[in-house]
Order: sequence, then C-alpha cells, then structure tokens
Amino acid sequence: MHRGRILIVEDEPVALKNLEYVMKKEGYQVVATSSGSNALKLLQEQEFDVVITDLKMRRVDGLEVLQRTKALQPEAEVIMVTAYASIPSAVQSMKKGAYDYIAKPLKLEEVRRVVRSALEKVKLRRENLQLRAALEGYQGKVKFITQEPSMLRLLEVARQIAPTDCNVVLTGESGTGKELLARYIHYHSGRSQGPFLAINCGAFTEELLGNELFGHEKGAFTGATTLKQGLIESASGGTLLLDEITEMSPSMQVKLLRVIQEREILRLGGTEPVSVDVRFIAATNRDIQEAIKSGQFRQDLFFRLNVVALHIPPLAERRQDIPLLSYYFLKKYSALMNKEVAELSEEVMALLMNYDFPGNVRELENIIERGVALSNTGRVEVAHLPEDLRQLSIRTFRRKEGRIPTLEEQEMAYIRWVLKEVGGNKTMAAQALGIDRASLWRKLKKYQLEG
Ligand SMILES: Nc1ncnc2c1ncn2[C@@H]1O[C@H](COP(=O)(O)OP(=O)(O)OP(=O)(O)O)[C@@H](O)[C@H]1O
Ligand SMILES: [Mg+2]
Repeated sequence: MHRGRILIVEDEPVALKNLEYVMKKEGYQVVATSSGSNALKLLQEQEFDVVITDLKMRRVDGLEVLQRTKALQPEAEVIMVTAYASIPSAVQSMKKGAYDYIAKPLKLEEVRRVVRSALEKVKLRRENLQLRAALEGYQGKVKFITQEPSMLRLLEVARQIAPTDCNVVLTGESGTGKELLARYIHYHSGRSQGPFLAINCGAFTEELLGNELFGHEKGAFTGATTLKQGLIESASGGTLLLDEITEMSPSMQVKLLRVIQEREILRLGGTEPVSVDVRFIAATNRDIQEAIKSGQFRQDLFFRLNVVALHIPPLAERRQDIPLLSYYFLKKYSALMNKEVAELSEEVMALLMNYDFPGNVRELENIIERGVALSNTGRVEVAHLPEDLRQLSIRTFRRKEGRIPTLEEQEMAYIRWVLKEVGGNKTMAAQALGIDRASLWRKLKKYQLEG
C-alpha cells in the first residue's frame, strides 16, 4: 500500500506551496489545488486518504470541502487549516466530522504529526472494512441449493453472465430465490468486493422512492439538512437489485432509463451530475410482458434491463429440490439454534413432497425452522408441522395399516371431504373439484358414497 494520498486545498499560494512541499517530503502522494470547486471535482474523480483544506476560501469554502469528502469518501479524514481568528469555526467543523484543525501560521512539525495520526486512523478503518468484506464474502458465500437439472443449467448461465456487467431481469414467484440468485450473480462478478444493495420499488411512494434511489443535496427541500447519497450512488462499483420493478411509477421509469443510458445521476435538488457505475438486476413476481402490454411498464426500459433474463420456476415444479433443501435448512437451523435435530420423519418428508408450497422456498424454510424449534426428539415429526400441512396429512396422506393408500382410495377420501366442506351440495362440490356434475355422480356411485 502507498503511504497515503493527500489532497491539499488552500487558496493562499505560499501556504499551499509550503504544505505541498512538506507532504511530498514525507513521502505522500500529493494533489494540490488552490480552488475549492476544483477540489470538489477532484473528490469525485480520485480517492484520497486525507484532505487538508483551508477553512476560509473564496467561493467554495473548507466546510463544503469537508461535507463533500464525508459524502463521497467517508473513509477519508479531513484536516482544517485556519487563521488564528477563526479557530471557533474550526472547532465547529470538528463537530461536522473534521479530524482536527491546524492554526496558521503553520508549524510544520504539527502538520506532520496531525497528518500522520489521521492517516493511521484511515488505514485502520480501511483494514477493518476489508476484513469485514472478506468475512462477509466467506459467511455470505451465497449457496444456491439445487439438484434439479434445469436449475443447474440456470446457475451455469448465471455464472457465465455474472462477470459481464450486463443488466439482468429475474422472474419467479414470491420466495423462489430471486434475491438469492441476484446475490449469487453479484458474488460471481468482478464487483463482488463492491456493495450489493437491494430496494423494493413497491414499498415506497414515488417521492420516497426517488429520494432513496437518487438521494438529495443539502437544502433540496425543508428537512433536507444534510446531503444524502442515494442507493444508486452508494451501489457504485457494485450491484443494485430493484425488486418489484413493475411497481415503479412511469416517471421514475424514465429517470431510471436515463441513469442506465447516461451512467450518471442527479441528486434531488442537484445541478451537477454524479457519475455512477452500477450493475442493475431487476426482479419481479409479476408478468412483465403483461405490464408492458398494458402500458404500465416502459418497453425501452425493459430492453435496457432485460439483457439477460432468468426465470426461477416455483418449488412445486422442481420437487427433486424439496428433500435437498429440507435437509439443508434442517442443518442450518439446528446449527443456528444449537439443537441436534438431524432428521425428518418419513411421514414429514412424504407430506412435504406432496405439498404445493404457494410460498415456495421461503415457506419450506419457515416450515423447517419451526420444526427444528419445536422438536425435542432429534427428529422433526408431523406434530411439529404447521396446522394446514398436518391437515393435509389427516385428510389425504395417512398410511393405511402401514401401507401407502392407492389413488382411488385417495380420490374417495378427498371427494368425501369436499362434500363435507360444502355441506353436501353436489353442484358446489363438482365446481370445487373442477369436474361436471355427471362425472361427480359417476364417482359417487363408483365409491358408493351416495346414500
Ligand atoms: N435454492 C435455494 N437455496 C437456498 N436457499 C434458498 C434457495 N431459494 C430460496 N432460498 C431462501 O429462501 C428465502 C426466500 O428467497 P428470496 O428472498 O431470494 O426469494 P424472492 O424470490 O426474492 O422472494 P420475493 O419475491 O418474495 O421477494 C431466502 O431465505 C433464501 O435464502
Ligand atoms: Mg425478494
């Protein structure tokens, strides 16, 4: 690692030269400028460890440099340089996040000392961040569990397109693993060290969503007391998952389209565009084509996002994954809860294999988590399943003298149950069963259910 990158902002030429000289002599990489507005530009383009800025400058002053540094490069530290008369405002600036201040006339030894200790702090902070990122990469090593051939192919495609930076649209019912797949793509891309952020576009009003995505400048509206970075800006260098993309309002869609095309954003109330480098992954459990046809979703935005389209089928259409996922979650939750529950009873497994999982993998995960929590036998039994699943077992999947019932026996039991549910009304029963009255009548006769 280099010894440190320093930005010096000072509009008095002599002081600027002095500072530049001392810092270079210390072996730092130095960028020096006499203009505050130029400093703001530099902060957007280059990374610095320490910023030394004069407090009182014409046009853009030191406080603004401080704020912009904190917003753009929160890991960097800022040191204020100030004339003796304005020490109170320098002290004020420390409340706003400055590391320290140095009074003029400059004592070079003091400058060296303050910069050195600021750098140490920055270095420590960066090391911590790296450590945490590495740890997350390890713990969060995204495991997308599947053994279904179609899903394995899907994962292979995901790995192939991951490093290409192209935008992706993920479709699939709720709970099928869209967010997990988005993370999977992120971790297999060159952006894995960058942030992965997600936002549910359906969970905000238009105004709030705009604020979340684009952020705002200080003073953009009453209450905007500080600059706020939006998610798109924060996700720069990484991946942003836009969940429930079809819920985005038309005007927000236009704004997003512009971001994708121009690769820059305008904060609310801002005039200077900020360049961003984000991979977008959009997800939805609705039919996007339908939303496009009805005019709810812009086709041009769809084309920009849908460079790659990946669809995750519902769990009920990939039953091979049910036992694998069940045992994966069993292991996960017994470890988390520190319990030794290592098995699912045969009957539980049979129930799970026959259940249709409207909530998909999330529902299965919840069922197993609950089962582990309730079990005190080292096994998850039917008694540890939620009521509606148990009902399913009583109604349809009880072994008869240890033998698995035949389809006809099941059908008979099911028709009997439906009849009871609708109070014996045959028209309603036929409707519920999805057959016509004549067929129902034949079946009733066959099973001698007609009294
Ligand atoms: N194949 C899988 N392997 C392991 N865990 C999975 C798998 N699929 C889904 N999960 C888990 O199931 C839960 C739901 O997944 P996720 O949040 O990714 O679904 P989603 O499609 O984004 O749902 P929604 O549409 O409701 O937002 C998560 O806890 C996720 O880790
Ligand atoms: Mg989701």
